[in-house]
Amino acid sequence: MFDPGFLWGAATSSYQIEGAVAEDGRGPSIWDTFAATPGAIQGGDTGAVAADHYHRFPGDVALMAGLGLRAYRFSLAWPRIQPTGSGPVNQRGLDFYRRLTDTLLDRGIQPWPTLYHWDLPQPLEDRGGWPARDTAERFAEYAALVHEALGDRVTHWTTLNEPWCSAFLGYATGRHAPGRREPDAAVRAAHHLLLGHGLAAEAIRSDDSHVGITLNLTHVTPVGTEPADLDAARRIDGMQNRLLLDPLLRGAYPEDVLADLREVTGFGHVHDGDLKRIGASLDHLGVNYYAPMLVGGSSTPTQSAYVGSPLVRVADGGRPRTAMGWEIDERGLLELLLRLKDDYPAVPLYITENGAAFDDVVEHDGVHDAHRVAYLDGHLRSCAQAIGHGVPLKGYFVWSLLDNFEWSFGYGPRFGIVHVDYATQHRTPKDSARWYAEVIRRGGL
Ligand code: FCB
Repeated sequence: MFDPGFLWGAATSSYQIEGAVAEDGRGPSIWDTFAATPGAIQGGDTGAVAADHYHRFPGDVALMAGLGLRAYRFSLAWPRIQPTGSGPVNQRGLDFYRRLTDTLLDRGIQPWPTLYHWDLPQPLEDRGGWPARDTAERFAEYAALVHEALGDRVTHWTTLNEPWCSAFLGYATGRHAPGRREPDAAVRAAHHLLLGHGLAAEAIRSDDSHVGITLNLTHVTPVGTEPADLDAARRIDGMQNRLLLDPLLRGAYPEDVLADLREVTGFGHVHDGDLKRIGASLDHLGVNYYAPMLVGGSSTPTQSAYVGSPLVRVADGGRPRTAMGWEIDERGLLELLLRLKDDYPAVPLYITENGAAFDDVVEHDGVHDAHRVAYLDGHLRSCAQAIGHGVPLKGYFVWSLLDNFEWSFGYGPRFGIVHVDYATQHRTPKDSARWYAEVIRRGGL
């Protein structure tokens, strides 16, 4: 069961909700550029206005307080704070986050900032982006600036959100900004993201700061027992989970994954001492979980985010799916949490994202999103079971507080527990928001 100190929260990210992309000195990010590329985003949507949170944050914080949230996970837009990705602080950009943080604290809501949720300043991409080592150094500088400004009021810091996506969707499949399709660059990006985490953690670690990172992890199973299926599961687990977990928690890359990736690139970009910095202790690990993966061997090569493993296919587990087409399986979350406990050194865990998009219908008396309630309820049951098995799970953040810009899918998928009417910016708490408020009030299910 959940103990009284369990941290109940909700999450968002800067580019997905803020809008105001040209205000108060903000510079362009790779997502502004990518969204302006014809065909990159469904419906030609962009984050230019999004949920207009930049202007509406006081009302949004009031809404959070009404739900009884104990913590709010948000991200800071690097190009608001350093419009070109280096150099002095843009005070007006930083002040937005200071006001947001203070407003949260006034309402008794713990601010849980993430320093990077994918919106890299465009000038840094122009100089090579994450495949370039320098970006990791710039990130640490930016982290130090933010920590200097907010370190007196923020205790829990997250460096990166889902570096796997930044690296492999951004630089291998090109489905995310900056839209490059260069598998070898993606592998370098993954390392420099981890290095950026390590350097930033050094920069912001102090007696009263807790530093973590958020990974998108999953539970991978093979479709059958054929050697090709077992090998596919090993490879996908390697690329999706162990490639990041092992350096962070064990101080080394997994040998088998390095061997798989040698088809794609050498590892000259990994310098002596990097792994030591990446593996310096984590105060907590954020886990984003949405769906499990069932995989098998394949005889037809496909190009995917799993570079170095072309003979792998994702199979259908036959379960109901969300509007994203993601299979619903809360058991996968339980298995994942147990695996983290069994295979890795103990570290406090937080679910930093979990939730679902469904085709919500706005009725005269609200949004009756029973599917989302069932999804959240099932996954919270898995959390409770994991805690019962001794998993050090300390908190849960639902994705998302608000409907928002779902990256290359634009505004179609709605993940919010609060509905946003994008024409009027009117917010309507869905049934799931009321249900979640009640869970928080009771301290459990
Ligand atoms: C995660 C992202 C988040 C959101 C959810 C649905 O991968 O971190 O921004 O898009 O998926």
